[in-house]
Amino acid sequence: MSVTSDADAIVLGAGAAGLMAALAAGQRGRRVVVLDHAAEAGRKILISGGGRCNFTNLDTDAGRFLSGNPHFAKSALARFGPSDILEMIGRHGIAWHEKTLGQLFCDGSARQVVAMLLAECAAGGVDIRLSHRIMGVTGGEGFRVETDRGIFRAPSLVLATGGLSIPRMGASGLSHGLARQFGLCVTATAPALVPLTLDAAELEWTRELAGVSLDVLAQCGGARFREAMLFTHRGLSGPAILQISSYWEPGRAISLNLLPGCDAGAVLREAKRQRPRVEGRTMLAGFLPQRFAQAMAARHLPERPVGDVSDTVLNRLGQVLAGWNLTPAGSEGFAKAEVTRGGIDTRDLSSRTMEARTVPGLYAVGEAVDVTGWLGGYNFQWAWASGHAAGRAI
Ligand code: FDA
Repeated sequence: MSVTSDADAIVLGAGAAGLMAALAAGQRGRRVVVLDHAAEAGRKILISGGGRCNFTNLDTDAGRFLSGNPHFAKSALARFGPSDILEMIGRHGIAWHEKTLGQLFCDGSARQVVAMLLAECAAGGVDIRLSHRIMGVTGGEGFRVETDRGIFRAPSLVLATGGLSIPRMGASGLSHGLARQFGLCVTATAPALVPLTLDAAELEWTRELAGVSLDVLAQCGGARFREAMLFTHRGLSGPAILQISSYWEPGRAISLNLLPGCDAGAVLREAKRQRPRVEGRTMLAGFLPQRFAQAMAARHLPERPVGDVSDTVLNRLGQVLAGWNLTPAGSEGFAKAEVTRGGIDTRDLSSRTMEARTVPGLYAVGEAVDVTGWLGGYNFQWAWASGHAAGRAI
């Protein structure tokens, strides 16, 4: 097969990180080709944030990322932070709002973010080739990428095909495999920002609560998040659980405080004092969602007015509410994970340029790298920052 295209750089993956790398390099006069097996660019951007793309977080800081090297993300984030992506968003007339906790969303649609990236790529003369299946990559004098629709050559290659989450949307281990092929290490991968599942014994009483949401403090190891938790048919989800899932390892316990910010025993004793004639479920519904209050009362309180329930029993229920310790059976896996924890080892990359230390011209960006953000726009911010760092270096 003859060579279809000679360029200065080939970017594998037309997602957030790949498009950012391509536009930054293209606008510096580099001839860039982006290859992707999908028929559409930026598919994960399109479904992100419920279709409104939580494109960054104002509280971005390296502490909001998990990585084998907690300092690795600092350099790229310092040089392309939330204000830089906001400047681009503003230049394209995309209206946005802060939802909560520094999370910035489009007012309209995530489609505007993809359109912005494609317009910036066009301004840099980037050649985007979709529906191209990558058959193999070889190195040596530059890089040679063989696809089902031709051969592409360039002295620089950017691995930007993301992580393993949501395979049905085209996620693949291509970047990890190519990194290994070129001698880079890949750290253990696991689903992150993912719902957790419960065993049959817990599901027996929680399954009927599917759809109930409440404010909790979730803890695992040293990590703690106070956000909403949602009961599901298979276990637990909601922001608090997604956040803590990134720190969870199979077999490990998590602790949930279902009445955070107060002394649960004191709250129950005071509620009894104020309404001694009501039944337990009615008392609990004063500060917990009704269906959850009902389930808790059925499990932990006798069927009689709370005035007749001893403080010892209430204190015991207080302890249950303040510290529900459970060991999840598992997670819902890569099929439901928003991101992948682990990836191309940061020790093998320059934190300034994302270039492989031992393979000149090879770069890795975005979710393919062992940098995983919290929920709330941090993962896109990492994609923008790492992509931009590589795009400036090519
Ligand atoms: P990304 O996965 O975006 O792009 C990789 C590209 O490579 C894709 O275009 C894919 O088709 C292509 N590719 C993969 N394998 C290939 C192969 N073998 N050959 C050729 N091409 C290949 N984050 C956030 O900050 N805010 C949010 O609101 C959300 N919301 C959200 C919702 C949902 C449902 C998910 C699944 C994820 C999020 N995220 C998020 C996470 C965010 O989407 C993710 O971190 C970034 O998309 C990562 O960007 P990348 O460019 O690294 O990979």
